[in-house]
Amino acid sequence: MQNKSQNDCYIPADDSFFLEDYIKNQQGHFALDIGTGSGILAKSLSENFDLVVATDINMHALDYAHKYVENCICCNAADALQPSFDLVVCNLPYLPSDDINDIAVDGLDDGVPVPSMIMTSAGQVVKSGGKMILLTSSLANYEILSSLAKSLGFDVSIGAKKRLFYEDLVILECKKR
Ligand SMILES: C[S@@+](CC[C@H](N)C(=O)[O-])C[C@H]1O[C@@H](n2cnc3c(N)ncnc32)[C@H](O)[C@@H]1O
Repeated sequence: MQNKSQNDCYIPADDSFFLEDYIKNQQGHFALDIGTGSGILAKSLSENFDLVVATDINMHALDYAHKYVENCICCNAADALQPSFDLVVCNLPYLPSDDINDIAVDGLDDGVPVPSMIMTSAGQVVKSGGKMILLTSSLANYEILSSLAKSLGFDVSIGAKKRLFYEDLVILECKKR
């Protein structure tokens, strides 16, 4: 995961491509990409879903993503949305940090508080039987995030891991009971 300045759009990196590859065969009616950045994941979801919504708190990112994704909303996580999604994806800002200097990557202590807030919001808009697919890392305490997803009513498994030089990328697949 690379560091980008707050006014930039996150440039797709290894984490983006790993999650893009993992979700490419998912199908359904409604999909949501939280923290869409450049729109890379939302664009991929548009191949197999009837309607894709992308959110981000960075308007510069949405300005970019809107070239590829029709339904862009500037809001925190999924806070503006109703519970109707078959699939919610998010490449989480997972890096452990003391402060939030870069909203694209900084997750605060253990890489847990910002992802927890996003997951709590996301968990409310997944319909029963639907899924959240989330990308985090061995740099973060993803066991805590896994426990949180269970407490939100999801069955959780590690969908995939990928070794990079200094971390394992981790995909959490969370199915709503
Ligand atoms: C690691 S980047 C991922 C961007 C893109 N999805 C990708 O995979 O390349 C995380 C994105 O989440 C956005 N973000 C951070 N906190 C957010 C929040 N609370 N609600 C919505 N988006 C948020 C950032 O602006 C950034 O675009």
